[in-house]
Amino acid sequence: MSEKKIKILAIESSCDETAAAVVEDGRTVCSNIIYSQIALHMEYGGVVPEIASRKHIEKINRVIRTALNEAETNLDEIDAIGVTYGPGLVGALLVGVAEAKAISYAKKIPLVGVHHIEGHICANYIENPTLKPPFLCLVVSGGHTHLVRVKDYGTYEILGRTRDDAAGEAFDKVARAIGLGYPGGPKIEKISQEGNPNAISFPRAKIADNPYDFSFSGLKSAVLNYLNGCRMKEIPVVTADVAASFQKAVTDVLISNAMKAIEEYKAEKFAIAGGVASNRILREGMQKACRERGVEFFYPSPVFCTDNAAMIGVAAYFDFKNGKRDGLDLNAVPNLRLGER
Ligand code: KG4
Ligand code: ZN
Repeated sequence: MSEKKIKILAIESSCDETAAAVVEDGRTVCSNIIYSQIALHMEYGGVVPEIASRKHIEKINRVIRTALNEAETNLDEIDAIGVTYGPGLVGALLVGVAEAKAISYAKKIPLVGVHHIEGHICANYIENPTLKPPFLCLVVSGGHTHLVRVKDYGTYEILGRTRDDAAGEAFDKVARAIGLGYPGGPKIEKISQEGNPNAISFPRAKIADNPYDFSFSGLKSAVLNYLNGCRMKEIPVVTADVAASFQKAVTDVLISNAMKAIEEYKAEKFAIAGGVASNRILREGMQKACRERGVEFFYPSPVFCTDNAAMIGVAAYFDFKNGKRDGLDLNAVPNLRLGER
């Protein structure tokens, strides 16, 4: 007789997406509902935490109901609730955590708190059934840039991280500076198609004491200085060239540090995750660099790169199987570190 499948209801509300999903046995996504608040935050040029929390409260019940309906299931069939409890915006996280605790209490369903970055990494398991730890993963999102050794399900070692801005944050800030608006990543990627990535030589920061750490604030300043210089000299700015050259500088550094880690740790498998991982130039660059080294390369579809609850359901499944359970004292932890319990 086949074993009963484990069904997880997952909730994600750490930033500006209100999301819920139903995931079976950690690999099958039965539903993945995302209410994106991007349009609401656009006029402010970035996420406004107060607005994000308020919208999460407004939308979360409907998003969860839709996730259950689309998966043709109900709370009586759910084995555990997975919820992002950090890192992220505290007010936004609290909405998801409070909701998950309320359902857990009312329906006596086990609760599993999930680290948001762990969720991003686990997004790779959804479409790659052969992917199993150990592997190396680069998580590049709006809030994080982490090079991680995935030693086992739920066991991580951070090899490198950003010293200042996250990669996605750099995309967003540069996009704003060149008048493209929020969110910057997809807009920079699009306009770059018409630009020359070698037009402007922007810096690629190297960190002396850790070859796996990143720094993007110098690159951002270099772009701003370049724009100011053009303005002072009354030289017209070719936005597509600035975007393409900036994108190339970011991806070059991400690829170079990742390949250093692959060589040092003799990794056979490498994955990318997070919003920036949907960037085509980054994917193609990583693919090529991995192929040259005989390393298998994995990446999630764009919908599983940016924030979603399916990835949280996958992470919750492996944690649940490892015996992790949280109580009703689970709290939002805005600066939660990966690997902390
Ligand atoms: O993972 P995510 O949805 O949220 C966080 O956990 O931060 O990532 C959002 C970030 C934003 O900074 C956005 O500009 C960036 O991912 N992003 C991209 C692309 N799509 C989203 N960056 C570069 N190229 C893209 N295509
Ligand atoms: Zn994220």
